[in-house]
Amino acid sequence: MKKRLAIFLSGRGSNFINIHKNILSGKISNAEIVLIFSNNKNAEGIVYAQSNNLPVLVMDHKNFDDRKEFDQAIVDELSSYNIDLICLAGYMRIVSEIIIDNYINKVINIHPSLLPSFKGMNAQQQAIDYGVRYSGCTVHFVDHGVDTGKIILQDVVEISSDDDASSLSEKILTREHILYCKAIDLFCNNKLSITDDKVIVE
Ligand code: GRF
Repeated sequence: MKKRLAIFLSGRGSNFINIHKNILSGKISNAEIVLIFSNNKNAEGIVYAQSNNLPVLVMDHKNFDDRKEFDQAIVDELSSYNIDLICLAGYMRIVSEIIIDNYINKVINIHPSLLPSFKGMNAQQQAIDYGVRYSGCTVHFVDHGVDTGKIILQDVVEISSDDDASSLSEKILTREHILYCKAIDLFCNNKLSITDDKVIVE
């Protein structure tokens, strides 16, 4: 049975588009995207989803009293889709325990730094400001913290003296597209096992 993926996004959606193309080409196997979820009706990624006939669900968090109420509504909506894996791909909301506890070890994220360095927003600017020589990207399971979950895969990019946050973001994004697809392919083919403190990649 193919793994049923939900992709959560809030903006551009280049990771999502790339995941979709890699599923179509067979580079990600045993996977199908069954839902694109966004909290932002103007997210560019939605346009691509609609033109490729992928189901889209938009719910604006501003219509809910708090994060928990919003996340409960998401969980309720998702229940009929039988989701095996939620991929956060530029989803600009902190995911609460309501979602995490309903999808234990089934929510993954890509973050544009070498975690545990530079968690949170503007990770590329944080790396430039700190003066590190290398940064990169991390695919990780999502737990109750922000960017603290167990690491699945990482890739490194070198930072040159003339890089700024924008050029570094571009360099990292190219790697993100490859890394996220690799991680999803591993998950969908049951090649990730999770111990108490680590992810083992087969
Ligand atoms: C990426 O840099 C990703 O690492 C971060 O948000 C950005 C999303 O880009 N979590 P896109 O929407 O996939 O183009």
